[in-house]
Amino acid sequence: MPAPDPAASAAREADRVEESAGRQLAPSPEFLDRVRRVRESLVEKVEAAAHARNSPLVRALVAGSAARGTFLTDRLDVDLFLLFPPDLPRERLRAEGLALGGAVLTDTRVRYAEHPYLRGSFEGFTVDAVPGYAVSDPARPLSPVDRTPFHQEYLSARETPELVGQVRLAKQFLRRLGIYGSEARTEGLSGYLVELLVLRFGSLRGLLGAARSWRIPVRLADPGREPPRLPADVALILADPVDPNRNVASALSRRNLATLILAAGAYLDRPTDLWFSAPSSPPFTRADAEHRIGERHSHVTVVVLPRPDLVDDTLYPQVRKAERTLAEELGRSGFAVLGSAAGADPERVYLLVEVAHALRSPVRQRDGPPAGIDRVGQFLEKWGVGNDEVLQGPFVREDGSLAVESRVAVREAEGALRAALPRLSLGKDLTPRDPGTAEVRPLREIADSPAVTEALRALLAKQLPWLGPERPPSRR
Ligand code: CTP
Ligand code: MG
Repeated sequence: MPAPDPAASAAREADRVEESAGRQLAPSPEFLDRVRRVRESLVEKVEAAAHARNSPLVRALVAGSAARGTFLTDRLDVDLFLLFPPDLPRERLRAEGLALGGAVLTDTRVRYAEHPYLRGSFEGFTVDAVPGYAVSDPARPLSPVDRTPFHQEYLSARETPELVGQVRLAKQFLRRLGIYGSEARTEGLSGYLVELLVLRFGSLRGLLGAARSWRIPVRLADPGREPPRLPADVALILADPVDPNRNVASALSRRNLATLILAAGAYLDRPTDLWFSAPSSPPFTRADAEHRIGERHSHVTVVVLPRPDLVDDTLYPQVRKAERTLAEELGRSGFAVLGSAAGADPERVYLLVEVAHALRSPVRQRDGPPAGIDRVGQFLEKWGVGNDEVLQGPFVREDGSLAVESRVAVREAEGALRAALPRLSLGKDLTPRDPGTAEVRPLREIADSPAVTEALRALLAKQLPWLGPERPPSRR
């Protein structure tokens, strides 16, 4: 009898798991038919509305996953693109788009991504009506969505029913890991990126087999073509086939790509149905967070800002920057920073920093210049006799430079942050015009709210998602 081969049996198990998940994710023929009819009727109605209004609409089309069958049924949005002549002024593009969308959709509301679009309902489906320009060269788009019809053409010419099934499987795999979606809040993989990756590697398994040994930054070059040159902080580079200078993966963060790389290896070694089950996060409450903080003997300080009136895609990059700025400031001013996190609700933004101790050392060492340079005079003048902040010094250190040890008046993290806030730049719209509107408080003075608890989870319950169930949050 041949020795059991663990790789072969893992591959057989992956076959079974993917087959079963694929079956569950596949929309029924009736549903696909409904989607097809909705697509046709949307385009028909919008064209009729354009005709009736004498609108300069060039063409309407449904693109995105609803056009290709690559959607996950429980989060299907129909993307309706309304294309206008390239010489139409932007304000008219916007107005025409909203008017035509409004003529065919019900329960509409204006939403904003890179530019405004209309979300509404149509025969029980959620539809995004997005205005754009009918350009002839996707490498020279006039608005951010003008490449979309070309994406649609590129993918639909290449996707077989098998590949469509693999795309759904890949989206569900990523969703379960919390890294599906290219919004600024998620920083994950966009639907279009997933489709290109599945196309390139032939299947989800092909993609994961390659991804398990990727090292960030990852450049996926086309044979015979230079990969696009892009900033060093990009995690993954994949040129858009319809516009080679655009990186399709520009929204993907290093953290999320690393999660994918690690998950690929973990799944291929031990495939189970759980990898494709509905995403769920173990319960985590404010009390769990407080218990963990007690166990760690650490301290969480919170900056609360009024939420500026911005969409998530504009807000979140600023929130992340502000979070980093606060953590760095505390680190520089004598606190041992353990981590940071942020949360937002419609009213407020919460920036949390965990430090090992609530109080910093009462003694601060200040570096002076090396002996023999001009600045020595200044340093001695500032820190010489008569400065009652000085606890010891000035003195010469072993390396030949001057130093002084001074008294730290404010030892609390909150006090240190309050003093620093006026000179910190927290992001264009987050920096309060009146520094008084920023509150700095220890966690215990912050009321319980879902946004705070979410941030506490990100701060205190970090774990590779497939290693769950999480260790019990408390031993009460
Ligand atoms: N698109 C793009 N760049 C973006 C977002 C979207 O080029 N940053 C284009 C893509 O061609 C995409 C289409 O707009 O296929 C629709 O976007 P979206 O609904 O986000 O993606 P889908 O492919 O429809 O995937 P999902 O199943 O998540 O809806
Ligand atoms: Mg979509």
